[in-house]
Amino acid sequence: MTAPGEDTQRRGNPALGSLAFTRECGQCHTTGDGFDLTFFGYADSTIIRRAVAHVDTTTALHIVAHIRSLGSPRAREDTRLFQPGGTPLGSDVGFAVALFGADAWPAGLTTAGLRAINPLQVRIALPLPMWSDEGTNLDWMPDAPLPEHALRFEGRRVEGALAGYRAAPSRENLLRVVMALRAAERTPSAEQAPCLFDDPARFKPRECFEIRRWASNLVAQHMLRSGLMSQSLGPELHDIWWDVGNAARRSRGSADPIEHAVENWASWMFLGWAFDPSRHASVYTGGGFRQLGLPRHATFIALRSQVARRERSPAPYADLLNAVRFAPTHWARNVAEFGFRHLVERLEAGDRPARPEQIAEARTQVQTALADANRKVTPADREVLVQLAERVLTLLGPA
Ligand code: HEC
Repeated sequence: MTAPGEDTQRRGNPALGSLAFTRECGQCHTTGDGFDLTFFGYADSTIIRRAVAHVDTTTALHIVAHIRSLGSPRAREDTRLFQPGGTPLGSDVGFAVALFGADAWPAGLTTAGLRAINPLQVRIALPLPMWSDEGTNLDWMPDAPLPEHALRFEGRRVEGALAGYRAAPSRENLLRVVMALRAAERTPSAEQAPCLFDDPARFKPRECFEIRRWASNLVAQHMLRSGLMSQSLGPELHDIWWDVGNAARRSRGSADPIEHAVENWASWMFLGWAFDPSRHASVYTGGGFRQLGLPRHATFIALRSQVARRERSPAPYADLLNAVRFAPTHWARNVAEFGFRHLVERLEAGDRPARPEQIAEARTQVQTALADANRKVTPADREVLVQLAERVLTLLGPA
């Protein structure tokens, strides 16, 4: 008696399976070697069922033998990669209670205290994508191979970079692939670039979403292989995850919106943002969460971004305004107070936006944040906020 797994392995030839995988599966399973199918431990029967959509049964058995020769599974197939704590929480309020111990923005939270909170470790109520979900597009697997025009762009730059990465999978070579794909999907001179959001005649939401998922998949497999799942590969690489979310977000205004656009928007932007909260406008990263009825998450994203911004950045002022707008009414006072105080700290340390037009914009954002907060708080709280806003405006000085 042999177990079914051993039986199929004996019938298949791993060397033939490896060649077949690269040729018939690698255009979507991005690394081209089947690493992902080994890592997530798909059953032989699942691999065969999926394989026979592309190859004959004999080849499918070779592929199974190849996948098994790569080693043992390291994660369950229903793993949600990077999901803080492993599983999503039940609700927006549950998120606040788990993080802060109550449904409130903590009055005593300091800049240093908020900075010490690692977004990769804070449990959230939004389910992040699984590797493969046959029922929806909420997964890491791109539904389509890279289009020929992308491979061809700039003297077959993507194709060359990909061959280089597959031969020597270093971070530098990975970056070459991602940068080549970025250029192919968004450069206006690339005749068929699909991610030109502002040109309705040229923006192709699905193709844009799929190319970006393809690049994201490759980056994720690079991390899985290294085993260093909480270590940033650098913003140039994680930004492509955020960009998947932006393709989903922008698709909503197009003639051909993608399915589950808001879930994809929020989850992919979160994936990119969590590795470097200093990047990207919080109106977008938090906005997806707000659309999903998760305003506490959105508020956290805005203020966690605010404390992460680089010196001389104008973004902390926009973050204040976004936080006040996202905050549930009973959070508004503490949220506004936190945001204003953080700006005072920055300004007192000599950290102001660099350009006069940024200062003018920051002044407007402070005034708008105050007006928005005033609609949500009691008259007594208003006094406190007015004083803080005055202090920020004085320190900011005239534009
Ligand atoms: C045209 C792109 C494409 C090609 C080519 C392709 N796959 Fe996939 N594969 C996918 C996508 C997309 C998924 C994710 C699930 C879904 O959306 O159906 C997936 C998922 C899988 C899964 C996991 C299924 C599950 O239970 O969730 C297996 C196993 C698999 N593919 C095997 C293969 C093998 C083996 C080959 C080559 C013989 C192959 N695939 C070729 C796109 C492709």
